[in-house]
Formats: sequence, structure tokens, C-alpha cells
Amino acid sequence: MPTNKKLLILAGDGIGPEVMAQVKRVLEWFAKNQALSFDTEDELVGGCSIDKHGVPLTDAAMAKAMKADAVLLGAVGGPKWDNLPFAQKPERGLLRLRKDMELFANLRPALVFDALADASSLKRELVAGLDIMILRELTGGVYFGSPRGIETLPNGERRGINTQVYTTSEIVRVARVAFELARKRGNKVCSVEKANVMESGVLWREEVTSLHKAEYGDVELSHMYADNCAMQLVRQPKQFDVIVTDNLFGDLLSDCAAMLTGSLGMLPSASLGAPDATGRRKALYEPVHGTAPDIAGKDLANPLAAILSMAMMLRYSFGLAEQTDRVEAAVRRVLAEGLRTGDIFQSGCRRVGTREMGEAVVAAVRG
Ligand code: IPM
Ligand code: MG
Repeated sequence: MPTNKKLLILAGDGIGPEVMAQVKRVLEWFAKNQALSFDTEDELVGGCSIDKHGVPLTDAAMAKAMKADAVLLGAVGGPKWDNLPFAQKPERGLLRLRKDMELFANLRPALVFDALADASSLKRELVAGLDIMILRELTGGVYFGSPRGIETLPNGERRGINTQVYTTSEIVRVARVAFELARKRGNKVCSVEKANVMESGVLWREEVTSLHKAEYGDVELSHMYADNCAMQLVRQPKQFDVIVTDNLFGDLLSDCAAMLTGSLGMLPSASLGAPDATGRRKALYEPVHGTAPDIAGKDLANPLAAILSMAMMLRYSFGLAEQTDRVEAAVRRVLAEGLRTGDIFQSGCRRVGTREMGEAVVAAVRG
């Protein structure tokens, strides 16, 4: 299955390059053993790009991302760049990628591997077997709404402004993805907003309801306020199948769901655009965890979320179900064998570093 698909790799800052190095080893295994190779290219994003080019993402790197069949990203940001003016922060690089590539659908699965059910801060019986999908709207809402900014009022006081805004089409296209995902899973969608206090939430609820009525009556739909959803996620997480929500609530709820799985170090994500006439869609895959500056460069980071993100790429961008299964099974196996990075360590297990975990996954991919 030779391919000439283009991959752009943006390892970024902090633990990004370390976890991405392990992703590359898995890709190398596929290239050597399954004639599955990609044309890969590396570029800078975030703080490392600021240091070299003065901006968190160059136009040249952005252009490469637009042309790539898929982008793999590590993480961006760090204390070194925290005091830069807002528009120059490392995070702007990531937000520009999401916005310019129109990656409106952010899939954040929260899956509890059997071997890790005890690593969760919740009781085993609440999380064992958990498999939920948080679908976060990624290019709208308060992250991008205008007006925005900080202004000084006539009385000298300052005012910070952001705008939560959604249009019908933005809501409908992400709701559609939610219903389609649900049909391939547990057939349930829970739509989450704050329709009790926000007009954008009222519209969200109305649009999701009418799309459901018109086209997806076979899928079970419920609605929940975001604060209640946060509570329900830690009370009874298995009640959910697909959760669809806006950009900001999705940011919060996906961190919360991540912790159910034992560690933020386990959570992959896919950010997808709309399919074009040929069925091809722009896509970016990244672990949900951040740059973890405190452990960066120390061979302590968990590379599994990045590796699982690459597996999502094999599935969603390239339709390679067998290879995806192979990678996911390999991760399950190394966990079952008791290998643990520090973030998921439990007594009785073997503590390994980033590199050793990556090596173990490559060995297990062989099957
Ligand atoms: C995430 C992150 C980002 C976000 C940051 C790094 C801009 O928290 O992907 O969840 O807020 O979207
Ligand atoms: Mg976040």
C-alpha cells in the first residue's frame, strides 16, 4: 500500500519534540515493514518558531499545512513566551492553523484502557470500559468572535471584551458530524450549551434540534447545560456516547473527560475540516496534553497520546482501519504488560521513559 501522501510534522515546544520522535519511529516501522510511507516534512510552530522567525507560525509553514494531506502536531507554548503580547504568543500559531484550515470538528475520544482503570482519580467501576467522544466546535465561538480586545474607558478603567458568537451553518455542520459519529458508535448525542443564560446557546439548541428532526431521527438526542455536563462527567461518565459542544465548553469538558482516562497523557485528538469535492478533508492530529515544561527534555513524557493521535490520522485521513487497529492494539498491549510513564504510574508496574515507551509500542506493533 505505497502512498505519496504528504505529512507535515509540527513538533512544537516542550515535550512536543520528544513525543513526536516516538510517533516518527512508529511511522518508520510502517514504512519499512508495510510499504506504507508518507512524504514527511518538519516545520516549526509556537515558541520555537518565535525564537527563529519572530512569529509563532510563518506564512511558509502555514502554506505547507494547507497543502498537506495531514498535519501532526506536538504541543505549543511555555513559560519563556508567556509574557509576549497576546497576538504574538505561541498559541496563536495553533489557533491560526485551526482557523485557516477551517478545522471546525475536533474529535476528542476519552477511552479508558482496561489496564489503566485504576489510574483514574475516579473509582474503577465508574470508568472501566468508558468510551465517549467529545466533539468540540473548533473555529468559532468566543475563541474567534469579535469585538474582542482590551480598551481603556474614559474614566481610566480598563475593559476586556470577548464575544461568544455562532451562526446557523457553524452549528449545523458540527452537529451533523456528531450525528454521523453517533451512528457508528452508541447512537446517542448529548448537545451541550448554556441556553439558560446565553442566546448563542438558545440558537445552538434550536439548530441541533431541527437538524435532528429533519435528518437524524434514528439517533437519540438529549440536551444538557454545560455546568451540569461537567458534573455528570465525573458522576456517571458512562451515560454519554457523543457529546457535541462549542469551542470553550469543549475545551473545558475535554480536559475533564481526559482525567477520567487516568491522564491527559493518554488523550489523542483529530481536528477535521469539511470534505471537498473529492472527499478529501484537511486534518490536524494532536495530543490533548500541553507542553509540560516541567518535564520537558527529561525523557519523562508519555508519548501514547501522540501515538494514538497518529493512529486517528491513519483512520480518519487515510481510511487505514487495519493499521489503526494495529497501533491501538500495540498501545493496549504495552499497558497490559505493565509499562508506565510517570503520569500513569501505579505500584507493581514498570516505570519507563518516553523513549522506552516508544520502543515498546514499535515492538508491539510488529504483533
Ligand atoms: C487545547 C488547548 C488550546 C485551546 C490552547 C493551547 C490554545 O487548551 O487544544 O485544548 O485552548 O484550545
Ligand atoms: Mg484545552
